[in-house]
Amino acid sequence: IHKEITELKSLIRDVPDFPKPGIVFKDITPLLHRPWALQKVIDFIGNRYIGAGVEIVAGIESRGFILASALAYKIGAGLAIIRKPGKLPYRTISATYTLEYGEDSIEIHEDAIQEGTKVVLIDDVLATGGTMSAAIDLVERLGGNIISVDFLLELTFLNGRKKIEERGYPVFSLIKF
Ligand code: PRP
Ligand code: MG
Repeated sequence: IHKEITELKSLIRDVPDFPKPGIVFKDITPLLHRPWALQKVIDFIGNRYIGAGVEIVAGIESRGFILASALAYKIGAGLAIIRKPGKLPYRTISATYTLEYGEDSIEIHEDAIQEGTKVVLIDDVLATGGTMSAAIDLVERLGGNIISVDFLLELTFLNGRKKIEERGYPVFSLIKF
């Protein structure tokens, strides 16, 4: 397993000065392009939920959707989409956050999650944890029961994990930098 994770890690590409000078962007597309890699990722993440009764996988626009949809399919859960402002057609609730580069907010349909629903949150990257904290706000406000907060990759030096663990939720990341 360790060897496979190392191989998946080698498929993540550093792109310097994107989207702004000085930022080294972790590009997951080479991993996505490789046959079996997405399947491996989803199996590693999803096998942890066998028998756990997860009802909803909630994914964050846009790169989180890639993983959330596949994970929901794998574990037979429903899919809730957390979107950038103005994208969702029905009644929404919204949360604002500060990003590594800028400020933004995210929204969810108010009927996406019911009180007590077992939810797994997933995104591609844990950096500062700002995006995921806002997503947690949304799920908490709808009364969701967050089982785990998962990422494909974690930038450990930015300490985003602490922000989420302090709120009492387990954090899982497959690949760490
Ligand atoms: C990136 C990434 C995570 C978030 C991580 O998304 O996909 O969602 O930033 O950063 P944080 O932990 O500091 O909040 P981005 O907002 O760039 O949008 P995208 O997914 O649509 O590319
Ligand atoms: Mg994102």
